[in-house]
Amino acid sequence: MAAFASLGLSEWLVQQCKQMGITRPTPVQENCVPAILEGRDCMGCAKTGSGKTAAFVLPVLQKLSEDPYGIFCLVLTPTRELAYQIAEQFRVLGKPLGLKDCIVVGGMDMVAQGLELSKKPHIVVATPGRLADHIRSCDTLNMKRIKFLILDEADRLLEQGCTDFTKDLEVILSVVPAKRQTLLFSATLTDTLQELRNIAMNEPFFWENKSEIRTVEELDQRYVLTPEKVKDAYLVHLIQKFQDEHEDWSIMIFTNTCKNCQILTMMLREFNFPTISLHSMMKQRQRFANLAKFKSNVFKILVATDVAARGLDIPTVQVVINHNTPGLPKIYIHRVGRTARAGRNGVSITLVTQYDIHLVKSIEEKIQTKLKEYPVEEKEVLKILTQVNVMRRQCEIKLESTDFGEKNEINKKKQMILEGKDPDLEEKRRNKLAKMKKGKKESKGRIQEIIQKKKGKMLKKKGKNTRETAAGLS
Ligand SMILES: Nc1ncnc2c1ncn2[C@@H]1O[C@H](COP(=O)(O)OP(=O)(O)OP(=O)(O)O)[C@@H](O)[C@H]1O
Ligand SMILES: [Mg+2]
Repeated sequence: MAAFASLGLSEWLVQQCKQMGITRPTPVQENCVPAILEGRDCMGCAKTGSGKTAAFVLPVLQKLSEDPYGIFCLVLTPTRELAYQIAEQFRVLGKPLGLKDCIVVGGMDMVAQGLELSKKPHIVVATPGRLADHIRSCDTLNMKRIKFLILDEADRLLEQGCTDFTKDLEVILSVVPAKRQTLLFSATLTDTLQELRNIAMNEPFFWENKSEIRTVEELDQRYVLTPEKVKDAYLVHLIQKFQDEHEDWSIMIFTNTCKNCQILTMMLREFNFPTISLHSMMKQRQRFANLAKFKSNVFKILVATDVAARGLDIPTVQVVINHNTPGLPKIYIHRVGRTARAGRNGVSITLVTQYDIHLVKSIEEKIQTKLKEYPVEEKEVLKILTQVNVMRRQCEIKLESTDFGEKNEINKKKQMILEGKDPDLEEKRRNKLAKMKKGKKESKGRIQEIIQKKKGKMLKKKGKNTRETAAGLS
């Protein structure tokens, strides 16, 4: 393996890496850094925890040191927490430059952000929605001289998932110069290669790790087969076991909805596990505070939705538990990639119900690895089953009595407005649809009733006829 200096990086950057304990480049760094320094666009697809961030931060800092001005580089990323993490890497590695950065994410004061942006920071790290808002609302925001446009978790930014970034990306792409270097990184680029090539424009340098296996070798990938109703008991049992055997391990639990995230957190707390949550319905300051408490080991267990599935680098995470089997292999890859990073070991356990077996099959196919069963003593699980289920129900009731559902509605409306939809109109449409469905169901019920009645009449008639025939015969 080459040393950093041989990749064309200046001595001061090599020293900065050393200070961070980084002495040898990882393959994605070894391959992408020289191409970026040469001025090429670059697409890097490498496994989770393999150092993709430094692969773009280092060459950008080198180029910035040669010709410093603001705004020099714009980094886009799908989540707010990730934006802070990336900015932190720029700050640490770029300290000798007196680097000025600006983080532009939703949930934070827009006026303060606008003010910071006007001071021409060298690096802007942003989530697309909020940056697009600034561009729409302020025509003095000048992005015309940007030299680097970076999309971290690039495939997610192009996906039309529950948060759709495509419209915001269009707004952003319309204000950055055509003559620029575009760098695209993710552990799962391949599904979106063509669209990404179009963004990169100048026949990009493409690097992908060769191995067929999409997850890291150091990760022990397990599953536990469980009936839906016993799932929570398995979860509590597993956590108890890890807490008993490895006091210093941190655990991330992924679940599918904000509500479930909240309920699981409440439930695990009732069992005295030091648990904290992270989901998109929380206030932004609370999100940051919770993540900080988890990172600093004040809380050892984090229950999160997929908002925490990508990019987050928390070295203490030893275990990832999927409370629900992810519907897409790529979500699985990112979730389990929160452990076993940078050469460390880690375990992932996916709770699989009878309805999820096909999902596991497609995950295994994609990652080219078979998940192994994680041995669990069922007797121990059954012992706590009733207690866990009662506790869950209590937590559900407690949550229902708060304004959680109401907040959810407000957030949904906010999201609709951001997507350019009218929430009242949408509600009317939803109600109409529900009415139609109800009507259909009712008429179906009536038809069934008529059929049943007719059947009854026919049977009666048949019975009468048989009796009459029998009487005639006798
Ligand atoms: N050359 C290196 N040697 C050792 N550790 C490194 C090296 N480069 C980066 N790291 C460390 O590896 C960890 C993971 O890096 P990073 O977050 O960039 O991974 P990633 O490839 O972006 O993963 P993900 O796909 O999950 O976002 C970080 O803690 C980082 O400091
Ligand atoms: Mg990353």
